Amino acid sequence: MKTSEPPKHSRILILDFGSQYTQVIARRIRECQVYSEIVRFDTSAAEIAAMQPNGLILSGGPASVYDKGAPQVDPEIFSVGIPVLGICYGLMLMAHHLGGGVVFTGRREYGAGVLHIANQSDLFDGLGDQLDVWNSHGDEVTALPKGFRVAGTTEGCDFAAVEDAKRKLYGLQFHPEVVHTPRGKEILQNFVYHICRCAMDWTMGSFIEEACARVRKQVGDQKVVLGLSGGVDSSVTAALLHKAIGDQLTCIFVNNGLLRAREEEVVQRVFGENFHIKLKYVDASERFLSKLRGVTDPEEKRKIIGNEFIRVFEDAIVDLAKTDDGSPVADHKFRFLAQGTLYPDVIESVSIEGNPAQVIKTHHNVGGLPEKMHFELVEPVRQLFKDEVRQAGLQLGLPKEIVYRQPFPGPGLAVRILGEVTPERLSILREADTIVQSEMEAADWYYKVWQSFAVLLPVQSVGVMGDQRTYENTIALRIVESRDGMTADWVRIPYELLARISNRISNEVKGVNRVVFDISSKPPSTIEWE
Ligand code: XMP
Repeated sequence: MKTSEPPKHSRILILDFGSQYTQVIARRIRECQVYSEIVRFDTSAAEIAAMQPNGLILSGGPASVYDKGAPQVDPEIFSVGIPVLGICYGLMLMAHHLGGGVVFTGRREYGAGVLHIANQSDLFDGLGDQLDVWNSHGDEVTALPKGFRVAGTTEGCDFAAVEDAKRKLYGLQFHPEVVHTPRGKEILQNFVYHICRCAMDWTMGSFIEEACARVRKQVGDQKVVLGLSGGVDSSVTAALLHKAIGDQLTCIFVNNGLLRAREEEVVQRVFGENFHIKLKYVDASERFLSKLRGVTDPEEKRKIIGNEFIRVFEDAIVDLAKTDDGSPVADHKFRFLAQGTLYPDVIESVSIEGNPAQVIKTHHNVGGLPEKMHFELVEPVRQLFKDEVRQAGLQLGLPKEIVYRQPFPGPGLAVRILGEVTPERLSILREADTIVQSEMEAADWYYKVWQSFAVLLPVQSVGVMGDQRTYENTIALRIVESRDGMTADWVRIPYELLARISNRISNEVKGVNRVVFDISSKPPSTIEWE
């Protein structure tokens, strides 16, 4: 098969000093259609030079340059001729290493300020005389290194923006990457286009072409297997791999009996019928439900589902490698396992005390690898952020229903049925869930929120229907907004919509006589109830 090396792109490297905004910087740069990558703060100047970036950005971070063990930079990076933009802590390091003065103020300054632009810096080209900016810093520059001059001041800070245009070194005390610096993106654009001379060559079209070439090169004529969940990441991975290697890809879709109503139909229709992807559908509902019988502990449920998934997946692979008469076929072996790993999962998190990003770990990933099968991994979207994966999905022809669907947990409806999971309780929850989703969609709210779903509580209460007293189940509605699932708040959706959902559930779902609305934020609550 003909393969070619992907062309070299413009690229910006971001040295991560532990700021909670490091990934935001990377995304902003990519929004400028320039490829960006996050590397550890202690990457050496030689390694950096070998990666041939057009420019470097030193992120902010929680440390003071005077802290014991404060993350340091290889000072050589300031003299290898690559443009550098230091943001906040990044600026402090630059000033500190190049002979300027930095003081530890002992207080962190947060909040809005106004930057007065001076000396016509290239960084602020086209931005007028003053800008609203957002500060969050502890140290402050008190004296400029040799060769530097002021490019902007704020009320509290004479060195809010500084530069040595000759050496292409720039520093900002404030954060251009956050939304509270409304024209920050233009500052970053000036840096990447005018100062670093980057081309706008990071587009989804070029990414897809190159990712396909990379996959072809990696797998040759071998077969690849992918666990397709129907979620965004595995769906886009499937579509991309199918474009790259066609029938060398087989997807396995496991029905664990804990899916939403008709989910298995949707997945088979989209991937099997529309995309003509080789899809093995495994209905393992019985296996999962019998293992879950009598189990009420949430962690126990998750463990059972995770372990069972691996077993079912392994069995399915063994099955695929057999001929019709059951004998194994040598060329049917799968050497490669594909996964929809995303960029935020692969960025090595910098562990610095006080770094909020450090405490946040993805605590779930049900359906881990069948390790003993010794697969080689194929991870074609591992360079992408979530919003980029969605763009890629649309470009590959996936429907909006898949690309913008709300997250759905691996253990499925089991974590939304408090207490024992039984076929009856699953059926109640499925009906309620279908009503929630269809009303949210009809009212144009489905795509505006992070998640909207029903939870079946192990609480029965008294109701009245006609002349009869009832004693039946309670459904809780959970509708939340969130950026990444780490924190969340309940959505103030219109009362009319709540009323419609509630009426429909109590009228149409047999076994439910009460609907309540969850008004807890995360923290302290979680999004799922288990
Ligand atoms: P919590 O309940 O921890 O959920 O606030 C945060 C986000 O993660 C999803 N979630 C899961 N996703 N496997 C997953 O793939 C899981 O076991 C799991 N548990 C929770 C949840 O839906 C929310 O979006």
